[in-house]
Amino acid sequence: MAARLFHELMIAIHGYAIVSVDDMIADASGVTPRALMNDADWAYFQAGLDAADIVVLGRLGHEANPNVRGRRRVVVSSSAGGLDAKDDAVWWNPARMPWAQAAERLLPSGGRVAVPGGQGVFDLFLEIGYAAFHLSRAPGVHVGAGRRLFSACDGGQAAEAVLGARGLVAGPEILLDPVAPVTLRIWERDQGAA
Ligand SMILES: NC(=O)c1ccc[n+]([C@@H]2O[C@H](COP(=O)([O-])OP(=O)(O)OC[C@H]3O[C@@H](n4cnc5c(N)ncnc54)[C@H](OP(=O)(O)O)[C@@H]3O)[C@@H](O)[C@H]2O)c1
Repeated sequence: MAARLFHELMIAIHGYAIVSVDDMIADASGVTPRALMNDADWAYFQAGLDAADIVVLGRLGHEANPNVRGRRRVVVSSSAGGLDAKDDAVWWNPARMPWAQAAERLLPSGGRVAVPGGQGVFDLFLEIGYAAFHLSRAPGVHVGAGRRLFSACDGGQAAEAVLGARGLVAGPEILLDPVAPVTLRIWERDQGAA
């Protein structure tokens, strides 16, 4: 038990997303709209993935984005047995193997985990616990209908309220792109929280 707790402390989970003013990550057709694609945000996001030991993403995101940089991917899918090593990635089904067990196998010495979504995976790691969430926002973009960042946003909660309710605290706003514009806030676990 003590060994498991120690191992959990050695893992830092970082979420990454860019959202519209109405907290959308994808439009009604299920893809990220062009208006949410931004070069400065993309560069920041890619650097975050490069800094991670593993990248955990949903099956649709995996299929839509080939792993051109050969990063160590973990694909979340209900079709996986538990933790299955396949040719393209490791596939994980959280209903069949809890995160603590999967993480011990994936990162036995601890490490950094990047979570690029989508919604089901962002929700999953809300429960597990983010060390940080890197939330980019395009304040001039309204998507209207589509996929929101967290399922709680579908019920009217703002992304910031969802993160705050999980004990994450907002850092200063960083202007990633003054022209678009796109802003970034890093929400980090409150070290003083129980
Ligand atoms: N703007 C952004 O920052 C951002 C971020 C992320 C994604 N996106 C965009 O959003 C779209 C995809 O997002 P999405 O949310 O629709 O799909 P997704 O998360 O990429 O994939 C959804 C699939 O992942 C699996 N999954 C997710 N949560 C699971 C869980 N708890 N347990 C088991 N399996 C789980 C399921 O696969 P199975 O059906 O195999 O069970 C599910 O059908 C893409 O266009 C992507 O580019 C944008």
